[in-house]
Amino acid sequence: MLIELKNIDKYYPIGRERLQVLHGVNLQIEQGEFVGIMGPSGSGKSTLVNILGFLDSKYDGEYLFAGKSVSGLNDRELSHMRNRTVGFVFQDFHLVETATVFENVQMPLLYAGITAKKTVSAVEQALERVGIGEKSKQKPSQLSGGQKQRVAIARALINQPRFIIADEPTGAMDTKTSAGIMEILFNLNKEEKVTVVMVTHDFSLLKYCSHQIKVVDGVVQKGTLQA
Ligand SMILES: Nc1ncnc2c1ncn2[C@@H]1O[C@H](COP(=O)(O)OP(=O)(O)OP(=O)(O)O)[C@@H](O)[C@H]1O
Ligand SMILES: [Mg+2]
Repeated sequence: MLIELKNIDKYYPIGRERLQVLHGVNLQIEQGEFVGIMGPSGSGKSTLVNILGFLDSKYDGEYLFAGKSVSGLNDRELSHMRNRTVGFVFQDFHLVETATVFENVQMPLLYAGITAKKTVSAVEQALERVGIGEKSKQKPSQLSGGQKQRVAIARALINQPRFIIADEPTGAMDTKTSAGIMEILFNLNKEEKVTVVMVTHDFSLLKYCSHQIKVVDGVVQKGTLQA
């Protein structure tokens, strides 16, 4: 089992009160799955995937990653874990605007301590893989939304992560651009067995998913989703 959540409760402090956003979440994800997460706005989907991606460690319950508990890790251990095991793709890309496409994709490798010289061919390959090899020297502001998301996917993949978290990766795209991004994620999952956990509001994307999860009011329900 790649990912296992056991009875996760998540609260956000609101003034002196606290708001419970996740209620007793149990979840299992196997290596190689393509998991689609749906549910109403505010139901806790991003909160859930932030926990899965080691961005948030303030929750009750237990998170087992590859059979080992990560619930007790400190911030340093958690960021190490994040750097080595997960790639993120967000609706609004989170690219560094002042850096080139090449530099954006290279960044995680430099953080991991690899010398710049040794990163060149890996970065070039990753950019080719997502179909934007020729945009290497451009800045993100010179790209379309679909192209920016391809850069984000290349960056998410560069460290050969165990899984990818995509939080509404096509949320701001037209149907055709969205399909192009989904094809990339789908092929990565199928050909390279990269596990994908994707939040979406778009029922038409469920055909790409091997598994489906519904979040309603902070409660996770399994089963088949319908429009
Ligand atoms: N940092 C925060 N502090 C306080 N409350 C928060 C915080 N982040 C999220 N919330 C609240 O937690 C609940 C779940 O938010 P979350 O972002 O997980 O929803 P979501 O399912 O991703 O929604 P959407 O589909 O709109 O992205 C919401 O009620 C939200 O207002
Ligand atoms: Mg969200």
